[in-house]
Amino acid sequence: MTDSTIVLSRANAVGPVRRRTFGSFVEHLGRCVYDGIYEPGHPTANEDGFRLDVVDLVKELGSTTVRYPGGNFVSGFRWEDSVGPRENRPVRRDLAWHSLETNQVGLDEFSRWLKLTDSELMLAVNLGTRGIESALDLLEYANHPSGTALSDQRVANGTPEPHNIRMWCLGNEMDGPWQTGYLTADDYGKLAARTAAAMKMADKDLELVACGSSGSGMPTFGEWERIVLEHAYDHVDFISAHAYYQERGGDLGSFLASSVDMQYFIDTVVATADHVGYKLKSTKKINISFDEWNIWYLDEHQASDEINDEWRVAPRQLEDVYSVADAVVLGNLLITLLKNSDRVASASLAQLVNVIAPIMTEPGGDAWRQTTFFPFSVTSRLARGTVLRPVIDAPTYSTAVHGEAAVVDAVATFDEEAGTGAVFLVNRDQTASRTVSIDVRDLGASRITEAVTLADDDVYAKNTIDDQTRVGLAPNTSATIEDGRLTVALPPVSWSAVAFG
Ligand code: AHR
Repeated sequence: MTDSTIVLSRANAVGPVRRRTFGSFVEHLGRCVYDGIYEPGHPTANEDGFRLDVVDLVKELGSTTVRYPGGNFVSGFRWEDSVGPRENRPVRRDLAWHSLETNQVGLDEFSRWLKLTDSELMLAVNLGTRGIESALDLLEYANHPSGTALSDQRVANGTPEPHNIRMWCLGNEMDGPWQTGYLTADDYGKLAARTAAAMKMADKDLELVACGSSGSGMPTFGEWERIVLEHAYDHVDFISAHAYYQERGGDLGSFLASSVDMQYFIDTVVATADHVGYKLKSTKKINISFDEWNIWYLDEHQASDEINDEWRVAPRQLEDVYSVADAVVLGNLLITLLKNSDRVASASLAQLVNVIAPIMTEPGGDAWRQTTFFPFSVTSRLARGTVLRPVIDAPTYSTAVHGEAAVVDAVATFDEEAGTGAVFLVNRDQTASRTVSIDVRDLGASRITEAVTLADDDVYAKNTIDDQTRVGLAPNTSATIEDGRLTVALPPVSWSAVAFG
């Protein structure tokens, strides 16, 4: 029985698909860098010590921009420690994750890794323990061609061409009491404004991200954005948003509807930013950089002893193993980011390898795909052209956390020139398959070119080191197009993509 309908039409265009929507995040945390992307002794390692099996998976994932080097880590980081001859680099304590940082990977090495993966760098500066001067120094080291003290240092360190980094984060989660050197909105707003203004004196075309809230549940949410932007509006281009979701207390229904919160988050930040813009009589719009989003079993992490009194190099921290349900929620969060492409101009899945990541590795051993890898990689590959906001008519269900939520959610993209498109869908129903009828007449679609689904009888099935391919994509053979109607059956708790031409 068809119980949900969707209408796709060019009239509901949101804006172009932005490649930066498919960004990710590499933090010096746990085994993300060391024993993750970098493992000099590994059989696949290149001359820089980067694992090429991981590079291949990152390319298959289709991540674009990579935020680096933190996260909480950046708020205690001295960037100078991580450039120059490796044997001279100091080992420091990282207070954020209570571990030791060897500084064997720094900006110059990481930039070479980015070239291997065809990614763009989004660099964060430390506004926790440091400030304007160190941000300007890093900018000079990274982007100035040559002929100055710091740019010549970069050249001498073996990187003759400037890194030409466009996007910069002005600190990280400065609203969070857990952040080294966290600030009030007023203090941070002033510091962000001054740092941004100074950085733009060096290069007016930089794209700068002010810290927004670390979550929609923060007590300062909304007010933080208002106050920060009242100070920094003229100098910055983006305000950040961070959101992590997890299933709590066995309430799968609420978890599956996590996107409702992400939509509320985006709507609130857009309204607040526009409110400040109108107040300042500015014609400029501040967009959102959703530069940390994912599923994270944070409660379990806080209850564990993975952070303890020891000072260790690359300890196993935040190594969540993801289920089918987690992948469905991740696919739905990506649908939500795409739907808001008019104002969410950049996003970073946090993180990329080993640390709450779609890719896992073992030292000296394999690299494999978590369940969450699949919706991300397929969406990044198929989303092309323009984002279309679908008109969805679907039954709803009640959730304890998010109120009424539709059982089906979706977004579509259409490439006018190629005459091809794709629709990405989730079924949040825990027991029933849902058959969706999609009106594609306006797009002239007449054939299905690909249809895949992620689902499993066990919604908690996972890919583990011992069973690395337990969960994967399966062809969805139910998808058909007839007379401008695309019909597809969505199993319970599933994510699907259907491409058409
Ligand atoms: O991604 C893990 C951590 O989550 C980041 O370091 C921090 O910014 C956030 O709280």
